[in-house]
Amino acid sequence: MRTIDWDYEKNNIVMIDQTLLPGEYKIIECSTIESLREAIRMLRVRGAPALGAAGGFGIALSAFRSDASSLDALLEDIKTAGETIIATRPTAVNLSWGVRRVTSAVEDARNLKEAKAFALDEAKAIADEDVEKNMKLGESGAALLEDGDTVMTHCNAGRLACVDWGTALGVIRGARAQGKDIRVIACETRPLNQGSRITAWELMEDKIPVTLITDSMSGTVMRKGMVDKVIVGADRITQDAVFNKIGTYTHSVLAKEHKIPFYVAAPISTFDFEHLEDEIKIELRKPEELKFFGNQQIAPLNVEVYNPAFDATPMENVTAIITENGIFYPPFLINEVKIKI
Ligand code: MRU
Repeated sequence: MRTIDWDYEKNNIVMIDQTLLPGEYKIIECSTIESLREAIRMLRVRGAPALGAAGGFGIALSAFRSDASSLDALLEDIKTAGETIIATRPTAVNLSWGVRRVTSAVEDARNLKEAKAFALDEAKAIADEDVEKNMKLGESGAALLEDGDTVMTHCNAGRLACVDWGTALGVIRGARAQGKDIRVIACETRPLNQGSRITAWELMEDKIPVTLITDSMSGTVMRKGMVDKVIVGADRITQDAVFNKIGTYTHSVLAKEHKIPFYVAAPISTFDFEHLEDEIKIELRKPEELKFFGNQQIAPLNVEVYNPAFDATPMENVTAIITENGIFYPPFLINEVKIKI
């Protein structure tokens, strides 16, 4: 099934619980805004485009669960739900984008029945468009890859980070669909291991050759000539930086040093050219993520911990940004991006 979807019988959100992968493939349901927020906070659903869909479906869920008897009261419920959903994870712009897009669709409704229908139609449109856009993005980005390339990636920017297909992994899927033999080096992505748990699993499911490395091995594999290109996803692209999973910046510096192209693959919904790097809040996660591996304690309990979920890569380290509207090269001019949006 898709990473996240709507159950039309129960009017619930359904999703693959990504915290259990690769050991267990389990579908869970969210029937309340609180359970959706828990799923987002715990990374049961994660990855910027999937969070966009989660935000959209979240507004539909709040419309279906609301017991408001007037349209104004329903809009008020939706607004409150949207604010709480957005506050769950601050860095990926897609979450607030999904919430706002569906909220504004509901504002056109003339009665309660229409409001629910508009919310669900718009949320479903976000999900469907995500798949289409990723396939388009994957096809255009595939032109950058040559037969025989090895691509290094970080975190999971695959089908599980999206509704389907993927962004960085979408480019790899696109190139393989064109008959190119592409291999992948997946960085483990500490501390939550999206690379080893999800990217490696997802690629193996598709029989795409993948080699797993720890994050600290990226320099040595680049120096040994084992990497032809780096492709990562993005959680937010401001005028001056690309926000993505912590560790991405380090790989970008190493790629620059070793003259390896560093590509970012992301849908236009990830762009936030109204802002600059310094204005964006980076999510700080719990110290326990570094002190425990599962139930195993791996650090002194009282050690001080710094655990940002994301970092910012300055644009000067980015070779190109691959989108569904084509490939952008430096300088990444606000006007050019706006025209393509
Ligand atoms: O904390 P996560 O797992 O939600 O972080 C995900 C990433 O950083 C991805 O690389 C990014 O969202 C792009 S997904 C296409």
